[in-house]
Amino acid sequence: MGTTDLFTVTDAERERALAHARAATAEASHIPDIPADTPLRPIHRVAVIGAGTMGGGIAMALANIGIPVTLIDANQQGLERGLERVRDNYAGSVARGKLDPGERDRRLALITCTLQMSAVKDADLVIEAVFEDIGLKQDIFRQLDRLAKPGAILATNTSGLDVDQIAAVTTRPQDVVGAHFFSPAHVMKLLEVVRAKDTAPDVIATLMDLGRRMGKVAVLSRIYPGFIGNALFRNYTREAHFLVEDGALPHEVDAALKKFGYAMGIFAVHDMAGNDVGYQTRKAQMATRPTDRRWNDLILKLCDQGRFGQKSGKGWYRYEKGDRTPQRDPELENFVAEESARMGIERKTMSEDDIIKRCLYGMINEGAKLLEQQIALRPGDIDIVYLTGYGFPAHHGGPMYLADRIGLPSVLADIRRFHAQDGFWWQPAPLLVRLAEEGKTFGDL
Ligand SMILES: NC(=O)c1ccc[n+]([C@@H]2O[C@H](COP(=O)([O-])OP(=O)(O)OC[C@H]3O[C@@H](n4cnc5c(N)ncnc54)[C@H](O)[C@@H]3O)[C@@H](O)[C@H]2O)c1
Repeated sequence: MGTTDLFTVTDAERERALAHARAATAEASHIPDIPADTPLRPIHRVAVIGAGTMGGGIAMALANIGIPVTLIDANQQGLERGLERVRDNYAGSVARGKLDPGERDRRLALITCTLQMSAVKDADLVIEAVFEDIGLKQDIFRQLDRLAKPGAILATNTSGLDVDQIAAVTTRPQDVVGAHFFSPAHVMKLLEVVRAKDTAPDVIATLMDLGRRMGKVAVLSRIYPGFIGNALFRNYTREAHFLVEDGALPHEVDAALKKFGYAMGIFAVHDMAGNDVGYQTRKAQMATRPTDRRWNDLILKLCDQGRFGQKSGKGWYRYEKGDRTPQRDPELENFVAEESARMGIERKTMSEDDIIKRCLYGMINEGAKLLEQQIALRPGDIDIVYLTGYGFPAHHGGPMYLADRIGLPSVLADIRRFHAQDGFWWQPAPLLVRLAEEGKTFGDL
């Protein structure tokens, strides 16, 4: 199905990509306006607010490096559920022979639980991980402003809310910062440190250092919807969904992405994570979103049919009982064809190259916009976010590195072709145009 060797790398190219990733990882901790010898704030004790999926994982990541953590939740049930999950995770590590029981007990003893918000008073760092709701988070930060000790770092694990709006409700915005961990937080290597308008340099330096001590790669992002990682990811999923509306089937998109090197295709990932993630938010946004561009709502319609993914036995694929292998589902494929017809789209066969290009080049174009607006400091930072947090195939070195290898004029030519076909979402990033015209690469930045 129309493949070239554009996305196949030689052994030498693979080695160069891996070397790039190592260099970019080392570089990520270097922040131009924050000297390496900036004195760090001491972190002896941390409070984590919200004992859910993220709060529990963050508490483990801290206990794993010997830092005492107070886990705070609004209700007893939440607290018990959270602690149970932590115990189960440690038990799993012991059962797999990865952790000895004595060490497990030491780590568990470092985690204490309470319903009292006043327990934050001893913490040098507070990490908020309650529901993704700006009003709720602002309410928590008002309380932290009253209760936390002077100089305590106040971090939010928001996935994409505006950290400035959270900092603004406190009298100490210099101490407020984003600490975007990925799920499961005790496993995933990536930590996006989000620099708000007033965040103090030593707060950033301390959090970047703490990330490193937790065995993570900390990457700095400025405030932007979804920060670096989810901003690019939106482009990836959007195009995958448009491809399905335009003529590809989920298994064809997934096969092309796996051929490129992803462990799983995006539709299999959706089915695993649950197609209902973000359903309410997206439904709510439909009424007020701009009408001058194309939107993809198929996933919402799947949920309306009970196609939540693996957990309901069907989603983009169907699943046999007790088996997580995605199987093609004629019912879903008919529905997709009907939807294309309803939208007046004449379905076309897609080449594997075009599937990969549409999924990846939107991310590259967005990456160029982030660099231009200085949301991301360096192309290598974007690559590291993708390699450590989003399963980007290591041998391609990250999306920006991939663009350089392919050649920016060639990437831009395809982006212009997609722009002519599809409009709004594909407006070429001015930085990409400039670099391509000057014969330069992202690496030259
Ligand atoms: N789940 C993920 O994959 C993921 C990844 C990165 C970031 N995040 C972000 O992390 C945050 C938490 O997400 P989650 O998935 O862990 O949520 P969750 O629903 O699993 O847990 C939230 C917890 O917060 C508690 N809570 C609610 N209000 C509270 C209050 N006023 N005081 C104290 N505790 C309160 C709840 O009882 C619950 O235990 C969100 O901002 C989310 O966007 C989530």
